[in-house]
Amino acid sequence: MSSSTSSVLAISAARESKIRKLSEVSHHKTMDHATVLPWEQPIDRSLYPKDPEHLWINGTAFCEGLSEEQKLELAWLETGRDISMFIWLEQTIPPLYMGYVTQFHDRISQDLQEYLMIFSKEEIVHTLTFKRFMAKAGLEIWNPPKGLYELLTVTLPKLEPAVGVLFTLLIEWVAEMGAMHTSQGAAVEPMTRTLFREHHYDEARHIAFGRWISESFFETASAQAIAQVKAMSHKIVPALVDMFTYNPEVAQHTSFTFPIQPHEHEKIEQVWRSAHNARLNEQRFAEIYAWIDKLGLRP
Ligand SMILES: [Fe+2]
Ligand SMILES: [Fe+2]
Repeated sequence: MSSSTSSVLAISAARESKIRKLSEVSHHKTMDHATVLPWEQPIDRSLYPKDPEHLWINGTAFCEGLSEEQKLELAWLETGRDISMFIWLEQTIPPLYMGYVTQFHDRISQDLQEYLMIFSKEEIVHTLTFKRFMAKAGLEIWNPPKGLYELLTVTLPKLEPAVGVLFTLLIEWVAEMGAMHTSQGAAVEPMTRTLFREHHYDEARHIAFGRWISESFFETASAQAIAQVKAMSHKIVPALVDMFTYNPEVAQHTSFTFPIQPHEHEKIEQVWRSAHNARLNEQRFAEIYAWIDKLGLRP
């Protein structure tokens, strides 16, 4: 156990100065719930909210035989899942990060405490905005992401703050790269495209913060602490990518009988390991994979 005077979330002076700049940018320009979208305008459910090439079962035999109508329904369900995931995960961040501020108020620098508060504030606005979008689009919220919700609400609060920041980063980064990669094409439903683009501006700062804290942790932590984090990450990263790639819960939301039922593990495995999804993940997560491989966070 370190002494009460040792600092928590310690980073170099150069990185701390960059975090002060993140705070300044946030104070001047951050997502505003009231104006981020023209809320009086409709969400057009006849347009795709994502690239149809990225439907979870696209490129597998399960996609053959689906009508155009069914594919459009799936695309909206999948976007509803993506937004649900943001809601469930991002609403856990304010208690986690504000917990660090209250618990370690005399050990975290003032600049970092300020950014933890800004980060928390932004996630509350994001969650409110995502919920409003879901209601307006007539989308149902999905169940909390298995395992991840417990990780964020039960496990991480007990671990040291830098580890909490690292796993928050990995989860947010996958969700964010996934959403942006599929939603920014010219043919995408405009309200959806704007929502994810505006969210991205705030998230780019959260990701930068998470990377700097995590890189500092790997430069200064004990070999034992690093080994523990790597072991945790080797389990979590593959599960996180699978969960994002295909969520079996979709079968419970379709108006038609979905070709893969939640108990059909072999079929689910086929979708998770399909060549199409492997290629898609290599593309959309290339930047994340490069970073986590440099730190040895993937098996
Ligand atoms: Fe967010
Ligand atoms: Fe975020």
